[in-house]
Amino acid sequence: MSLILSLLNTASAPFFAPLAFPHLRPTLLKFDSAGDLVAVGATLDNWPVGLVLARLNHPTQSELLSIMVLPAYRGKGIASQLLASLEKALSGRGIVEVNGVFPDRAPTLVALERVLAKNGWSLPQSFLRVYRGQVPYPPDYPWMPGALEPPEGFEIFPWADLSQPELAEIKERLATDTRYRGVFVGTLKEDFEPRTSLGLRCEGVVVGWCFTRLVPENRLLYYEGYFVRPDLRRFSRISLGQSLISNVIYRHWDLREEIPNFGFSVELENRHMLRFSARYFEPFCRYVYHLKRAGKMLPG
Ligand SMILES: CC(C)(COP(=O)(O)OP(=O)(O)OC[C@H]1O[C@@H](n2cnc3c(N)ncnc32)[C@H](O)[C@@H]1OP(=O)(O)O)[C@@H](O)C(=O)NCCC(=O)NCCS
Repeated sequence: MSLILSLLNTASAPFFAPLAFPHLRPTLLKFDSAGDLVAVGATLDNWPVGLVLARLNHPTQSELLSIMVLPAYRGKGIASQLLASLEKALSGRGIVEVNGVFPDRAPTLVALERVLAKNGWSLPQSFLRVYRGQVPYPPDYPWMPGALEPPEGFEIFPWADLSQPELAEIKERLATDTRYRGVFVGTLKEDFEPRTSLGLRCEGVVVGWCFTRLVPENRLLYYEGYFVRPDLRRFSRISLGQSLISNVIYRHWDLREEIPNFGFSVELENRHMLRFSARYFEPFCRYVYHLKRAGKMLPG
């Protein structure tokens, strides 16, 4: 049996599509050799048994998207050879750095981390805690008997109703007001789900928000871009954060037939939000896991 590794092109890539994760298969079926993807396939006696795929993100950086070997052929060094071959191809395209992100709950995590170590990648580090579940019946949350009204002086509003001058003012505050430090313009999503994304005003000033984004293929509402101005977080017995989130969850509950699942993630550095999530959300999640990342500098 002879193992052959080859750089995939428009003609060969479709044969390897079944070896990619489902969301990546369409890109292999319509693979463009001159595009931003680099793929290496492994065949044994002309039969595809392994695939590695990376995206060129930046003139000199790339991201490992997928590495897969058919179960019957694992443990024979094929993934390690595929990765080495990919790195060589990336170097040839002027790439000096490759990074990868993967969940720590993958069944073959040990094998993957061993492959990375054998190929000289950095030790994988967890950086994000991910929460997934089905939107629960809101009164099951002990702290949420109803969609909590914010205290007097505050108003919760649909983010879709935000005016252009308000948006401009928020962007100005992100750049100049230290109470918004660490919030980036990029987190003010434009692809938010309009029925469930909410903002919080205090005397006409936007002081918080919770955006959601629809992931149609998973019928999942991803809660992201959650923020309440730090000086207002302990403003009242019921926190403004709880009030915002409860309103989002009640709206989501109303859409449960259409979007039954929810998900969100918290950076491991964000101790405040981790505590909040552990207390209020973890009991309702079906999966809680970490994302890990690793990388390698490639020889020029
Ligand atoms: C991860 C994966 C690509 C590895 O493929 P592979 O061809 O078996 O990898 P290799 O043979 O090159 O290396 C695997 C290494 O892990 C080791 N290994 C595998 N399972 C192990 C286990 N349970 N405990 C300890 N070591 C293990 C092997 O012994 C080997 O190390 P060695 O060469 O020092 O003996 C393969 O398991 C796979 O396709 N998994 C499913 C897809 C996936 O989850 N991909 C990652 C997300 S992108």
